[in-house]
Amino acid sequence: MWMPLTASLIRPLTFSMMSFMSWVRSFRSFGHTPSRGYARLRAGVNGLPHLPSRRFAWLNVGYMRHSLRFVAALVAGLALLAWGASVLVTRTTRAWFERDMVLRAQLAVSGGREALVSHWEPGHEAELRKVLVGMTRDERVLGVAACGADLQLRVSTIDYPPSLVCSSLALGVRPRSDAPGAAWTTWASVFSLPGGRVHVTATPLLEGDQPLGFVVLVHDLTFVERREETTRRFLALAFAFLAIVASVFTLVAARLSWRGWSNELRRLIQGGSPPPEFRPFLRDVRDLVERLAAEREAEGLGGLWTPQRLKNTLTRHLHGERVVIVANREPYVHERTESGEVALLHPASGLVTALEPVMRACSGVWVAHGSGSADREASDEKGRLPVPPGEGSYVLRRLWLSPEEEKGYYYGFANEGLWPLCHIAHTRPIFRSEDWRQYQAVNHKFAEAVGEEVGSEDPIVLVQDYHFALLPRMLRERLPRATVITFWHIPWPNSEQFGICPWREELLAGLLGSSILGFHTQFHCNNFVDSVDRFLEARIDREQHAVVHRGHSTLVRPYPISIEWPSGWLGSVPSVPECRASVFAELGLAPGARLGVGVDRLDYTKGIEERLLAVERLLERTPELRGRFTFAQLAAPSRTIIPQYRQLDENVSRIAARINERFSSGRYRPVVLLRAHHEPPTVFRYYRAADVCYVSSLHDGMNLVAKEFIAARDDEQGVLILSHFTGAARELTEALSVNPYDLEEASAALASALLMPGDEQRDRMRAMRTLVAEFNVYRWAGRMLVDAARLRRKERLSGRLSRLLPPVPGAPE
Ligand code: F6P
Repeated sequence: MWMPLTASLIRPLTFSMMSFMSWVRSFRSFGHTPSRGYARLRAGVNGLPHLPSRRFAWLNVGYMRHSLRFVAALVAGLALLAWGASVLVTRTTRAWFERDMVLRAQLAVSGGREALVSHWEPGHEAELRKVLVGMTRDERVLGVAACGADLQLRVSTIDYPPSLVCSSLALGVRPRSDAPGAAWTTWASVFSLPGGRVHVTATPLLEGDQPLGFVVLVHDLTFVERREETTRRFLALAFAFLAIVASVFTLVAARLSWRGWSNELRRLIQGGSPPPEFRPFLRDVRDLVERLAAEREAEGLGGLWTPQRLKNTLTRHLHGERVVIVANREPYVHERTESGEVALLHPASGLVTALEPVMRACSGVWVAHGSGSADREASDEKGRLPVPPGEGSYVLRRLWLSPEEEKGYYYGFANEGLWPLCHIAHTRPIFRSEDWRQYQAVNHKFAEAVGEEVGSEDPIVLVQDYHFALLPRMLRERLPRATVITFWHIPWPNSEQFGICPWREELLAGLLGSSILGFHTQFHCNNFVDSVDRFLEARIDREQHAVVHRGHSTLVRPYPISIEWPSGWLGSVPSVPECRASVFAELGLAPGARLGVGVDRLDYTKGIEERLLAVERLLERTPELRGRFTFAQLAAPSRTIIPQYRQLDENVSRIAARINERFSSGRYRPVVLLRAHHEPPTVFRYYRAADVCYVSSLHDGMNLVAKEFIAARDDEQGVLILSHFTGAARELTEALSVNPYDLEEASAALASALLMPGDEQRDRMRAMRTLVAEFNVYRWAGRMLVDAARLRRKERLSGRLSRLLPPVPGAPE
């Protein structure tokens, strides 16, 4: 019985564990709407919902199947045992019976010995038969015969089987024909006769040493077989009964254990204190559930991320904490125009494109450099104003910089030092100590401003970009409990290249004041970690993607940035045919003409020169496009006091002029250079009017122009040509991907784009629109905030724990 008993203990435990794990697994495949998934998570945690109610637990199909399988195995085992037992019992009882028959035969002969001997001689056949008949009184004795020493039958009873002849039986009794009486032995065997099986015993009859012959007793064996049959039946019945009782007991025991486990798990998941043996298991399960919930939230499973969802995430995970963003560029610029009026401008900045919708959703404060000529007039004495104008979803806090500060910090260290250091665009970085000093001072100034804006000791501060590499550490020192999320919007160079910066250690240490440090790609995270590894004394935890420096841990993770979806600007632009008509009219294009667009700040990393050269090469190799294809470049002047930018501006104008000179005819000009700041509605009109948009960055962290073009094309037409060297190229695989330096490849891509059938354009555009819709900027911000919330929880728990633990003697406070 040990087997079923052990099984009855082990099976229910295993089954309970398996069922619980299958519940956890089923959680992974929940439906895709957040509310359903979350509700099921909560229901799952509170009550293991897919398990049937206790009353109907027996009807649970999975449970029944497991139980039936177990009972079948139990019954089969018992049947085998019963069969083995019956074979053993049959053999043993038959051996007993046979031994018994031999003994009885010997007894019968020795009891009648005197009478047998006295009537053995010929002439006494009648008396001898009487003696033999006397021996057959036992009903199991079928017949008796007396065989003489000459092996002839002397006398036999009526029922003695004639086939059992003396001469054959003598072979067993008498070893040899001349064997003396002492050598004769009792012999027994079983014979199958037509009437059934019989047991035959031949017992020698001696007078002194002289053998007189032998007496043959034939026992009927059918009674033995009848008894064996009865025994077998009894055994089968006994085992069947045993099987039923054992199965019932096992099932009841399994059920009780299962219920005990379920109740225990329910209690634990609801927060009851676990018995010691449950603790490791409970920890694993809680970790798993928490990870899955966070993953679902962070991965955006369960539907699109919207402003509302982001707001909910902030409320749920961060208790509606006020978010403070620090970015050099302000989202709204007040500029005094030549006519003396104040214009409100939206700067040409990917950072602003991405973050402004996030701030509208989250509220809080955006701390930025007030760079507009009319910014002071538009703000209060503290530099604050509610934005967006007329909506007031959040506060813009403007910080005023002196011309020296702006020159050293923004133009100098940020844009002549770090910008070329981080971009592979073959422009040498310039590192001046005075710029570095200003960079430090301005970072410090922003740290003070953040200190004024935060509402608590543990605020959430989002630090943006390469202008503020030192700010995270400054904030950490001021507000040790703050959650500082830093996002680096540009590439991070490899450690060798980064190493040329004279203040590399200070920059790394500054960034490592962050709680989370984000880049667009894993590749840039790796470059950062390699730089830390090379230049700082820090511990790198590659498993947790963290760097521990001066006792503080920073998570280093990729968060590919995106745009709002659907784009808010779509509401302010006309339909695609109207946009096309108005843009064509503006540019003086014929109705059948084809249009390409490029939209950038005038920056040497954007590959604008290479882009125009590709257009030139296209017109060289495809003469039929001359007069028909126009490329409009919207170029916002940027950082114009830096010589390289002025040089770029001149180069671009020169190349455009040369191409126009080569291929113009009548009113046709192949390149239209719109060198000015363009407000988003204009940019969107051009996106919607174009047949192709070419993003030719030589190096770009992400590039949001590519994503904006996709957002603008709700007609699912238009082709995107995208440089390999943008972060966006990793996501937008349906774009035509090119190396912008390779003018043959780029011009061929332009030609393919212009020839691409509408169906293919639709397929590609639809796939890219689906991706950008799903991976929008709310999801980007949501993922970082969820990660931040998890960190805060962890830090609070470990803080609580360290307060609870007794102090270690001699350890610093
Ligand atoms: O790529 C970094 C970035 O901040 C972008 O977001 C933006 O396009 C650009 O630099 C802005 O530059 P600036 O603020 O100097 O005009």
